[in-house]
Amino acid sequence: MKRVDDFRLKLGGKELVPIMIGGMGVDISTAELAIEAARLGGVGHISDAMIKTVADRRFNTKYIKEKAQLYKFNLDNSDKSMIRFDLGRIAEATRMHVASTMEAKRGDGMIFINCMEKLTMNAPKETLRVRLHAALDAGIDGITLAAGLHIGSFALMEDHPRFRDAKLGIIVSSLRALILFLKKSARTHRLPDFIVVEGPLAGGHLGFGLDWANYDLAKIFTEIRDYLAAEQLDIPLIPAGGIFTGSDAAFFLENGAGAVQVATRFTVTEECGLPEEAQQEYFMAKEDQIVVNMISPTGYPMRMLSNSPAIGSGIRPQCEPYGYLLDGNGGCSYIDAWNREKLAHPDAKKFQVFDKTCLCVHMRNFDVWTCGHYTYRLKDTTHQLSDGSYQQLTAEHVFNDYLYSTDNKIALPALQEVED
Ligand SMILES: Cc1cc2nc3c(=O)[nH]c(=O)nc-3n(C[C@H](O)[C@H](O)[C@H](O)COP(=O)(O)O)c2cc1C
Repeated sequence: MKRVDDFRLKLGGKELVPIMIGGMGVDISTAELAIEAARLGGVGHISDAMIKTVADRRFNTKYIKEKAQLYKFNLDNSDKSMIRFDLGRIAEATRMHVASTMEAKRGDGMIFINCMEKLTMNAPKETLRVRLHAALDAGIDGITLAAGLHIGSFALMEDHPRFRDAKLGIIVSSLRALILFLKKSARTHRLPDFIVVEGPLAGGHLGFGLDWANYDLAKIFTEIRDYLAAEQLDIPLIPAGGIFTGSDAAFFLENGAGAVQVATRFTVTEECGLPEEAQQEYFMAKEDQIVVNMISPTGYPMRMLSNSPAIGSGIRPQCEPYGYLLDGNGGCSYIDAWNREKLAHPDAKKFQVFDKTCLCVHMRNFDVWTCGHYTYRLKDTTHQLSDGSYQQLTAEHVFNDYLYSTDNKIALPALQEVED
């Protein structure tokens, strides 16, 4: 029986370990996690979601405070259309995040940035262009355009000197989306260097509707693989979503995948950005607690733990400091939901909003416990300690387990007992 280590991903004249750790915003896939993936010969991702918050944490900058101050006068106004991102600051924060990550990179692997095109930032095209260009300026190895495809993204990078040398990939959840992207970007005479096929069991936002359970990763993967073969397009295909063991990964590699993209198993590692208390919630999760709902103002379904503190929180919209989900007209469906509840509870100091959440604030605070479908299996990947908690893993351990395991086995880490 073959294992992942019997395969290599060929990308830009390099041979890589065919394991890609997927992007997880906001700073759940940290620089440390991406650096570790690259050190081990695979591909890691940082994310450009809420880049100013990430920069403030990493570099002690004061971007959020500065923006909050600038728009303080607007706090009580439900019209948020005048809240704008300073493009220079966005570029600066992106460059800092990327450059410092790339400087720390060791080993033969690569580091990509996951670009959250769903962050419309009250000027979708302009802000996206700046984020993409800044990441390329700062030397990122590659960019993965997240699902929810902005079909004009290649054109936005066309005039960058690194447009043809950086590795550019897309995430799609259907052959239809792929064909649309290829058609729209044909004018740039540049094909994607890799295609991530994300199925319905992934974490984060889904490229499916609430009928996600009717879809199957292997089926979509085969359809796209056969299409590419028929069109004589030799582009590595990278399936993602629910690939939980080395054997799951080897199955796809044996069937023509260039690599696999995985994330959930790494959410409980030391290098991951999730606070340890949240990681324990992931370990403890039961199958019926993994839900897909519509509370994200992006309009896309999102998978998360049903006990996420973000669900039902009625926090006042915080577009003045954040505002990443303001559409091109300064609107956000959370603002509408919050205003509706405020009207319904005129005398209440606090109220709850269930149909939408303030994704900016809650992702910043790690209160949206977004996760892959198989999160309930994480408890089987480690030891439960004498105090009832679960032992955190290292990224190296999980990476090597994907690489070497066979027969659907999962190697447990060396036991570390709780200190008194
Ligand atoms: C906590 C978490 C956050 C995620 N955030 C993002 C994101 O910001 N952008 C994105 O394109 N995919 C995101 N994903 C999807 C992953 O990158 C990946 O494709 C998918 O989860 C792989 O499936 P698995 O988690 O079952 O291994 C996220 C996944 C998780 C678990």
